[in-house]
Amino acid sequence: MTGPELAEAGRLLAAARRPVVFTGAGMSAESGVPTFRDAQTGLWQRYDPQELATPAAFRADPALVWGWYETRRRGVRRALPNPGHRAVAAIAARLPDTVVITQNVDDLHERGGVPAPVRLHGSLFAPRCSACARPAPLPSDLPPSAGPPEPHDGAESHGGAESHAPEAHDGPLDPPACADCGAPVRPGVVWFGEALPSAALDAAVEAASGCDLLLTVGTSALVHPAAEIPLVAARLGAPVVQVNPVPTPLDAICAVNLRGPAGEVLPALVRAAWPDDAVG
Ligand code: APR
Repeated sequence: MTGPELAEAGRLLAAARRPVVFTGAGMSAESGVPTFRDAQTGLWQRYDPQELATPAAFRADPALVWGWYETRRRGVRRALPNPGHRAVAAIAARLPDTVVITQNVDDLHERGGVPAPVRLHGSLFAPRCSACARPAPLPSDLPPSAGPPEPHDGAESHGGAESHAPEAHDGPLDPPACADCGAPVRPGVVWFGEALPSAALDAAVEAASGCDLLLTVGTSALVHPAAEIPLVAARLGAPVVQVNPVPTPLDAICAVNLRGPAGEVLPALVRAAWPDDAVG
């Protein structure tokens, strides 16, 4: 990507001191993690994600919902951060007051070099009891018969086992029981109809209120209250730069709209801001 829009966005980034990077599912699309509004695959084609991602769905069929999240969690385990994730880490490394706010429940920002993004919608890697909220251990990806995991080549995945795990089945899976109260363990994500974690939302609003640039990447900006975050920054006069291959409801508030995939546009943006920095 080149052109006047990129040059202008690069100028805004180079001038920033307290940027916010706000990301959605498109940030991880090039890592092979489907966006929320992408068609589901395999068994899950029969289900509308919005129907699976609710407390009512979990109450009605815990195994169906847990199985779906386990399929997603295994998919994320196999995924690797893309050049877009590394470009975000490069911005944070260059500008220490950068705040990364994500709607994503994958851990690709952390694996891409951003240790503590503000997580508005929780994480696939933080299960907890559905009754007493006690944090629960992550289920092992190895069926009991598989024996100890083999050492592997240091790829950026988790804890060693999964890239050699035989393909686990896709489908309903009974959630583990809470070690304390015995109730079913649930995924540590925010479901439709649930409130966002207040500490994360407060931190996001505070960062957006005090930022001097907001970079919004790979979000359809349809799901509130998360979608308010870029509006908070714009209302307080911060320039907003959007990275998305297609138009979104945010277009009108953006100083610059960069039409392209995050994995290509973000490294180009960092090079435009700091030509000497190598990224990607
Ligand atoms: N680079 C940048 N953007 C991309 C890419 C890419 N490679 N591929 C797709 N996109 C864009 C799409 O054009 C779309 O606008 O990413 C956006 C993804 O939109 P959604 O699937 O709606 O995801 P998101 O905006 O993160 O959804 C918000 O809704 O479903 C809930 O909790 C879920 O966090 C999620 C929230």
